[in-house]
Amino acid sequence: MIAASNPAKSNPGHIPVLLNEVVEALAPRDGEVYVDGTFGAGGYTRAVLNAANCKVIAIDRDPDAIKRAESLKAEFGERFQILEGCFGDMAELLLAAGIESVDGVMLDIGVSSFQLDEAERGFSFQGDGPLDMRMARSGESAADVVNTYDEADLANIIYDYGEERKSRRIAAAIVKDRATEPFTRTKQLADMIERVIGRAPQRKGQKSVHPATRTFQALRIHVNDELGELRRGLVGAEAVLASGGRLVVVSFHSLEDRIVKNFMAARSGRVSGGSRHMPGPVSAGPVPSFELKNKGAVKPGDAELDQNPRARSSRLRTAIRTDAPAHGAADFLEAGRGGRH
Ligand SMILES: C[S@@+](CC[C@H](N)C(=O)[O-])C[C@H]1O[C@@H](n2cnc3c(N)ncnc32)[C@H](O)[C@@H]1O
Repeated sequence: MIAASNPAKSNPGHIPVLLNEVVEALAPRDGEVYVDGTFGAGGYTRAVLNAANCKVIAIDRDPDAIKRAESLKAEFGERFQILEGCFGDMAELLLAAGIESVDGVMLDIGVSSFQLDEAERGFSFQGDGPLDMRMARSGESAADVVNTYDEADLANIIYDYGEERKSRRIAAAIVKDRATEPFTRTKQLADMIERVIGRAPQRKGQKSVHPATRTFQALRIHVNDELGELRRGLVGAEAVLASGGRLVVVSFHSLEDRIVKNFMAARSGRVSGGSRHMPGPVSAGPVPSFELKNKGAVKPGDAELDQNPRARSSRLRTAIRTDAPAHGAADFLEAGRGGRH
């Protein structure tokens, strides 16, 4: 295994998840070029740059992350480059930077601890902040969504992206309350949700989960179109990876992991053409554009979980690009439209 640098030392604000496993999966080599689609605090980028004499092109949509990249530029010079934008647009971003193909793509889906812990970003209700949640600090905010969407749309977002069974009750209460006072603060929304659906009784030995957790997750996913970005990012990686290049994806909840798993299964020819009862021939589809590195997902071990409980639900999946042409993207992108996955 390739040893990664000490995460806590290099990134005091964000502990990279499954760091050694990601570096091992990417297997960086001298002279190669990799994309880190979710730069964040630069934990993966730094570890890869330390593991081989390679180059990393990092992408992040958060202007704060772009500022954090300055120190890596000073440290690694031309071996490191940062691009501001969405990884869903990676093919276009790379082309604009004069790069047509790369040897690996890493994605670490979700928010960084920097984003989560800074109340002013509005991702969390642990500290009160504006109801914002925009990673890129532009576009529609969570307050815009909560104060203007109709009740059915709010209920669907909360159900689809938060997997919250009480979504209808929460949506109805939002619409009722906002008629007298629009929602502007995270605590205001979290307190209202707690008032309306109450706290579930705490199970023995388990941490109590705030009743607003699922709704906040749903709003964050919607505001940042996180599942659409993930789909576009996977298709983008397929387009830019050279033969033998690796796609390494860390996800944090089942909605994301399902998308990654289905994409890799379909691209590696593991999806049959027929139904469960009458499977069609595997060879009926296009030639596989990826090969799976492992059968299942890699999960964090006990030592990592002791150090970083936030890694709890992380899952790593890796696929290796073949020399077959990229598959058509339309069906895969279309399957995610309208909030259905
Ligand atoms: C979990 S953090 C990544 C942490 C990083 N692996 C590290 O070790 O420091 C996710 C980062 O990806 C960024 N991000 C999320 N979705 C993105 C997207 N679609 N395009 C570009 N950046 C994105 C977020 O702004 C955040 O900085």
